Amino acid sequence: MNHNVPRTKWAHVTLDERDAVEREARAKAAARAVLEKQKRKAPVPPVPPREAYPPIAGCESVVKYERLNHIEEGSYGVVSRARNKETGEVVALKQLKLDKEKHGFPITSLREIHALMEARHPHIVQLKELVVGDTLNKVYLVMEFVEHDMKTLLGSMRTPFLQSEIKALMQQILAAVAYMHDRWIVHRDLKTSNLLMTNRGCVKIADFGLARMFGDPQRAMTSLVVTLWYRAPELLLGAEVYDTAVDMWSVGCIFAELLLRVPLFPGKKETDQVSRIFRLLGRPTPERWPGYTALPNAATLGKSAAPSQSSLRHRFRYTTDATLDMLERMLTLNPARRISSEDALKHVYFTESPLPAHPDSFGSFPSAASGEKRRALSPSIPRRDAAQQYPLEFEWKQQNVE
Ligand SMILES: Nc1ncnc2c1ncn2[C@@H]1O[C@H](COP(=O)(O)OP(=O)(O)O)[C@@H](O)[C@H]1O
Ligand SMILES: [Mg+2]
Repeated sequence: MNHNVPRTKWAHVTLDERDAVEREARAKAAARAVLEKQKRKAPVPPVPPREAYPPIAGCESVVKYERLNHIEEGSYGVVSRARNKETGEVVALKQLKLDKEKHGFPITSLREIHALMEARHPHIVQLKELVVGDTLNKVYLVMEFVEHDMKTLLGSMRTPFLQSEIKALMQQILAAVAYMHDRWIVHRDLKTSNLLMTNRGCVKIADFGLARMFGDPQRAMTSLVVTLWYRAPELLLGAEVYDTAVDMWSVGCIFAELLLRVPLFPGKKETDQVSRIFRLLGRPTPERWPGYTALPNAATLGKSAAPSQSSLRHRFRYTTDATLDMLERMLTLNPARRISSEDALKHVYFTESPLPAHPDSFGSFPSAASGEKRRALSPSIPRRDAAQQYPLEFEWKQQNVE
């Protein structure tokens, strides 16, 4: 052995220093290995073709429809007006946003769509069929076309609805909600933009079941795209177990909006939403809402310095006692005491004068959805150019054919 040269490269370092250097070298090697592995990783496979998925392979292709105009981009889909090339029938076509569904269409959604197709009610928008593009992430709901949505309509009407018309609208909404609740379906996303209205004064609940199909909307969506304004207090306070009463709260908010022509609780974020509710209706007390303090967010969100009494009567001082009573029963903080759709339909509000207007007596309005009128920008829709982000497949197909 040659003693003139250092025996090892560690000859002049202490054992501690040597350990540290070795540790660092090991960490670097591990990091390099991770990087190498990432580089070697196979590219993301393309979305499978629809033939790979027998349940929807049998659906007809979207090319049987011709697009007429873009209607609206909502949180879960892009809606267009389209015509069936064979029958000439005008329909609404909603391309589901399945960006996050890397492997195509989730089977749970498919089951619920079939359930939805079986729900037949004059005041629930009719789902006619499901059509598909070439890949599993191109799925379209074909619905009956309805000229207006209540949100756009309320924002553009020159004269407000008459009391008799509001009564007719409420009767129809409640009839549809009672039909759903009777079948244990909770809509969970009732709001004016999900209420469609025909030119003949007929309301249809839309976006029906989608909230459930796509999971809990509170978790699935950001505050940028979803409005809190119709959310029941028990959900805001974090209740994990809830029932059909959440829809009745939303119906109460819609009722108030029809009367006021502006949203009742336009909160900016959850805390603001809760404090707006408590400011108008009074803070919950153990007598009015036993058990509310046990809700997860009660300690943080429920602490707002709200009055103990409701000022709903003052806010709606120009309405009849029956109207106010109905509203109060819908906007009851305690979900267990909130009125059900069935009881609401029997409320004296519907039998006192003026009686509900006949749908035929409703005036007709220019339809934004038919392209007769410019649609006002809505704060709750995502800000991006829907037509660019979601080029409808049947459009480029048509171009390719020509
Ligand atoms: N059947 C239909 N006829 C006409 N317009 C519709 C129809 N369905 C939806 N729309 C319009 O498209 C908008 C978004 O549709 P919606 O089903 O609520 O989608 P999202 O789940 O994305 O909110 C509605 O607010 C309405 O303006
Ligand atoms: Mg919607």
